[in-house]
Amino acid sequence: MKKQAIVEKILGARLHQSPAVQTVSVFSPVNIALIKYWGKRDVELNLPVTNSFSLALPTWGAHTTMTVSEQDELILNGKIIEQESDFYQRASLFLNLFRKPAVLPLKIEIKMNVPVGAGLASSAAGFSSLLLALNELFSWNLTRKELSILSRLGSGSASRSLWMGFVEWRAGVQADGMDSYAEPISGYWEDLCVGLHIVNASEKKLSSREAMQRTVDGSVLYGAWPKKVAHDLTMIKQAMQMKSFSLFGGIAESNALTMHATMLSAWPPVCYFDPETIASMKKVWALREQGMSIFFTQDAGPNLKLLFLNQDAEVIQKEFPGLIVIKPFDY
Ligand code: PMV
Repeated sequence: MKKQAIVEKILGARLHQSPAVQTVSVFSPVNIALIKYWGKRDVELNLPVTNSFSLALPTWGAHTTMTVSEQDELILNGKIIEQESDFYQRASLFLNLFRKPAVLPLKIEIKMNVPVGAGLASSAAGFSSLLLALNELFSWNLTRKELSILSRLGSGSASRSLWMGFVEWRAGVQADGMDSYAEPISGYWEDLCVGLHIVNASEKKLSSREAMQRTVDGSVLYGAWPKKVAHDLTMIKQAMQMKSFSLFGGIAESNALTMHATMLSAWPPVCYFDPETIASMKKVWALREQGMSIFFTQDAGPNLKLLFLNQDAEVIQKEFPGLIVIKPFDY
């Protein structure tokens, strides 16, 4: 198994250490991709076709407590997760990569303050928090780069959830993915706001994993995606340095729409739009026509993340009742 080989390469003899403490608590933020990760060059190792670029949402994410116990138990927002569920299976396969030689029973309590599985990056925060917790429990002292590589084995976007602020995940070229990890990108934008516009908080029926593969395998538009990402990455970093919000927001929105266009052209088609998603997009476009600087991005779910500046926050909140306004650099 390729994943196990990477874990052994990074942890070496530390993989056989006993826990240094009995319980730990950690936090990992969700990260919103502004330039998306869509498509893998290695499905098992979650190695991406392109770089991606994200912004962390401080205080929004996974608060995870891990305790050495008698038996495995996974509790999400106070609810015991059944062993047969997808989430339990994914989490337990991930944890088993790190519990050697015998599986150490763990009680894991995750408190997630964003809806789970609704395209709001809950898996990124969840998997990176599991790894942060293991790192502390066993006192491995992993570097951020190593944490990023290992979090990626749980969920690709988790590789970006180890920092606040802007982050770039570099795709790398090596077959084992040792050069595929994220790094913080310096840039502080005090009045930048992200609004979580939740049109449907229920769990999506089609995982991003399945949707991504269907797109790579069957979308005639996918060939254009790497070029689009390379262009958008250069532009969004320039926009960020210049603090040109209209350029910044426009690139993010165009990148998200192009990603969804590649999904629509897959067969069977992949569509994460609900009627309310489209209605909200049209509202954003109408507000822009009226002179408001507002943009959106959307991931593998029907919810939108709105991008705007603090000066417009009050008006935008009235336009989108229930909007959760987050200031990514105010923490
Ligand atoms: O990390 P995954 O497998 O949940 O995929 C995430 C994919 C997107 O959220 C749509 C894009 C991204 O870069 O986060």
